[in-house]
Amino acid sequence: MSVLITGASGRVGANVVRRLVEAGRQVVAMVPPNDPLRSKLDSVADIEIVEADLTDQEAINSAVKGRTAIVHLAAQLNRNETPVDKFFDINAFGTLRLLEAVVRHAPDLERFVLASTDGTYRPGAPTARPLAETSPLAPADYYGSSKLLGEVILQRWADQYDIPHTVVRFGTILSPEEAVSRFRYEYVRGVLSRAALGRESNIWHLFHGHPDMLEIVEAAVPDKEINPAVALRGPDGTPWTLHLADVRDIVQGVLLALDHPAALGETFNIAGPHPTGFDEGAAIVAKAFDVPSYTVDVPVDWHLDMDVSKAQRLLGFAPEFDFARMVADGLKGTSVIPARV
Ligand SMILES: NC(=O)c1ccc[n+]([C@@H]2O[C@H](COP(=O)([O-])OP(=O)(O)OC[C@H]3O[C@@H](n4cnc5c(N)ncnc54)[C@H](O)[C@@H]3O)[C@@H](O)[C@H]2O)c1
Repeated sequence: MSVLITGASGRVGANVVRRLVEAGRQVVAMVPPNDPLRSKLDSVADIEIVEADLTDQEAINSAVKGRTAIVHLAAQLNRNETPVDKFFDINAFGTLRLLEAVVRHAPDLERFVLASTDGTYRPGAPTARPLAETSPLAPADYYGSSKLLGEVILQRWADQYDIPHTVVRFGTILSPEEAVSRFRYEYVRGVLSRAALGRESNIWHLFHGHPDMLEIVEAAVPDKEINPAVALRGPDGTPWTLHLADVRDIVQGVLLALDHPAALGETFNIAGPHPTGFDEGAAIVAKAFDVPSYTVDVPVDWHLDMDVSKAQRLLGFAPEFDFARMVADGLKGTSVIPARV
């Protein structure tokens, strides 16, 4: 039984690798050549590391050959200056190349787990609250579209070649050390600035035909130099909400997807124990950093909640780490391998 983990140096991947090694599994960690994050795996003993870029079929064939399970986590996430076609080349066709390698070189594969995203729904204008696995898929940017195409390719190859598979759609993942900067002025400004640009964000709907919320927030928040906590509240009178997921809960979901018999052929939402309201998040960071918290009324509602009950019911998924716990652990330190070196 050897498990290939792609994206092994990533936020999720490094922690999946470590948990599997601790459980006594034979793990092969796939990283791209010249990976700046490879040193994150230095602390994990007893792993084989293979270099393969998701655009290189030959290298992928070698990495996949003879494996009995694959957890496919590698992806292009960062927008910035990344050319749009690279998202499709890595997230969709990279998945295709892995599956082609499986068909030809891994006849005994027992499970192919594909990491997907809440970005395959419509994050800026969700069609349901909460979003279930059966909710309409309508990605709103090139990242979400490329991830959904990866899902479609997997379903297609799995049907034709009888590949045992599971898809896990994650909420917004945070490593505890990343949680501490959320729900503060600079964070809210960053999210809204990207949404205002349109192409750089999957929540451009929040600005489409609506007033400039960035201006509203900038005008309403005093003490900007101390980066206060900020909660946004929509015209329905309730705080904005989003569904965060601690990387430790994501690792739990991935391991269940890999091993649980009931995961076979299924798709699961995987996220934290409950969505986090901006009011709750702002209160938690205000207390943790002793900064004031301001609530700003904006002219748009936004609620991105995921229904994780299918994973709870079928797999026994039991997410533990809500935002308060992430911040507390981020401040005191944890054994989690950090997202970045
Ligand atoms: N981070 C989130 O909030 C989030 C939310 C939903 C879904 N996801 C999905 O979860 C998975 C893991 O995300 P993460 O947060 O650990 O991402 P990450 O950016 O931390 O790690 C991604 C990894 O992919 C590898 N990679 C990128 N391009 C590659 C290529 N061309 N060839 C080989 N490897 C390549 C990188 O080396 C990196 O280690 C991804 O599939 C992502 O789409 C993430």
